[in-house]
Amino acid sequence: MVRVLLADPLAYGDEFGAALAGWVPDVESWRFPDGPADGNYDVLAVWKLEEPFPDLPESLKLVFCFGAGADHLVADLRIPAHLPIVRLIDDGQAAELADYACHAAFAFLLNDQKYRIDQAHGIWDPVFARRRTRADARVAVLGLGPIGSTVATTLAAAGFTVRAWSRTSRCLPGVETFSGQAGLADCVYGANILVNLLPLAPETVGILSAPLFARLTPGAYLVNLGRGGHLDEVALQNALDAGEIGCAFLDAFAEEPLPRAHWIWSHERVRITPHIGGLPTPAGAARSLAAAIEALRTAAPLPGLVRAAAATKTSL
Ligand code: GLV
Repeated sequence: MVRVLLADPLAYGDEFGAALAGWVPDVESWRFPDGPADGNYDVLAVWKLEEPFPDLPESLKLVFCFGAGADHLVADLRIPAHLPIVRLIDDGQAAELADYACHAAFAFLLNDQKYRIDQAHGIWDPVFARRRTRADARVAVLGLGPIGSTVATTLAAAGFTVRAWSRTSRCLPGVETFSGQAGLADCVYGANILVNLLPLAPETVGILSAPLFARLTPGAYLVNLGRGGHLDEVALQNALDAGEIGCAFLDAFAEEPLPRAHWIWSHERVRITPHIGGLPTPAGAARSLAAAIEALRTAAPLPGLVRAAAATKTSL
């Protein structure tokens, strides 16, 4: 028997519950704020710990992040260091993010932001120059984890010219890959579309910055599907106003919900979505949680490990 506290609304649906029970027949689960009468459970599946959140029990052995990026859980001091944190790995979520990136890449091809602005001002101003082909459009993808790789290969399969950068070197069919600090500058050089899918870590904070924007082709589209902390907002504002960046598709923000008075809301070259670029799918999330539980049971390496346990209190 494994006891799981589900503390994310995306885990409350019947499809998720049925899929999890299919993978882990002896699971006993509760949907927060419900919980076991004795307060004890083995696994906490949560995106963000609410404020306040009941004290975590001694029985807890694993925190499963109900999302691809666990930066906020790693930083949460209410989670003791002896607990491992793993993140969800879900092909369905990766496919949604690939759709989002393709949407922005096609918007670039179709000059979408210009015509939106023209429409808002009642301006009829067709551009008759030959339209770019997909292969003409150079996309730079930052981050080659499971999601970044899916996004890069999907864009490449759609016909875009794709480069991708990761901290350590990776190979990906149909994609020119770069790594290391020098590789980053080379990867983004001349890009028309810059897609960020990096994890947020001290070395990636503010990486979407003025020096990077200056290397893009003027008028490039920026697509931030990572975290708000990756983006230097002042640099973005300057780059938008200087035409260095033609349009920014932003799905994640330093403060969420984005404060109503923030300049980003009303900038005509910014497209906002409320952090829905790729949501965990019920089947994929259940499968990922089940894989983590199985690894915990068998003391196998935890898939999606973000932070290892500081001590050894980690098997079921
Ligand atoms: C969403 O931001 C996620 O990390 O899954």
